[in-house]
Amino acid sequence: MNGMTTTSHRPAPEILAAFESAKGFMPLGEGLALYAAAVEAAALGLPLLEVGTYCGRSTILLADAARAAEVTALTVDHHRGSEEQQPGWDFHDPETVDPVVGAMDTLPTFRRTLHAAGLEDHVVALVGKSPRVAQVWGGPLGFVFIDGGHTDEHATADYEGWAPHVADGGLLLIHDVFPVKHDEWTGQAPYRVYRRALASGAFTEVSAHDSLRVLRRTGAGI
Ligand SMILES: C[S@@+](CC[C@H](N)C(=O)[O-])C[C@H]1O[C@@H](n2cnc3c(N)ncnc32)[C@H](O)[C@@H]1O
Repeated sequence: MNGMTTTSHRPAPEILAAFESAKGFMPLGEGLALYAAAVEAAALGLPLLEVGTYCGRSTILLADAARAAEVTALTVDHHRGSEEQQPGWDFHDPETVDPVVGAMDTLPTFRRTLHAAGLEDHVVALVGKSPRVAQVWGGPLGFVFIDGGHTDEHATADYEGWAPHVADGGLLLIHDVFPVKHDEWTGQAPYRVYRRALASGAFTEVSAHDSLRVLRRTGAGI
């Protein structure tokens, strides 16, 4: 752990309780680092964006940071789940399957999660494939958190679609960065994207918290 962001930014107990009771994959320690980075970036007065909503666990933290700074949290997901969340795989949760459609749909749980936390007004959910949403997004962002698909195809598309929108001084966060192979599904695509961001000269590492990396835009390009 190398906490160089402002760790004094800590969610209020009720926000932390909502985060901890929400379905999802973000561990507490990384969640606290995510929150601290979101609070810092929100001071730029620009929207905060996450790729990979799932059921809204990490979104709660971004929404609370956005609420305090009077900005908006945006969260992108097609809500059909990543490869490793499909039936038969380790990260599958049968409760996320829509029995009518016969496919995963995490959108209803996400909406319940945000409603219960009282944060609906501070979040815009963008439902669709990340590259397609990125194609039509035109504005600068103070914060981009990449936690979507873990294949090279998806992680690269997330980086190429969203990193160009990170404003000068804004933060780019990448989750599930493992320098050595972690498991079959998480793999090393997020690590390769992280290395690429640093090699671009456009981003400088601010801190590392377990598998979460926090980078700041310090140059142009991606
Ligand atoms: C690891 S989960 C996100 C976990 C969440 N941030 C949390 O804190 O619990 C990854 C999510 O990314 C979504 N996803 C994967 N590939 C995607 C893509 N190309 N476009 C949009 N969403 C995608 C999946 O549907 C899944 O909900």
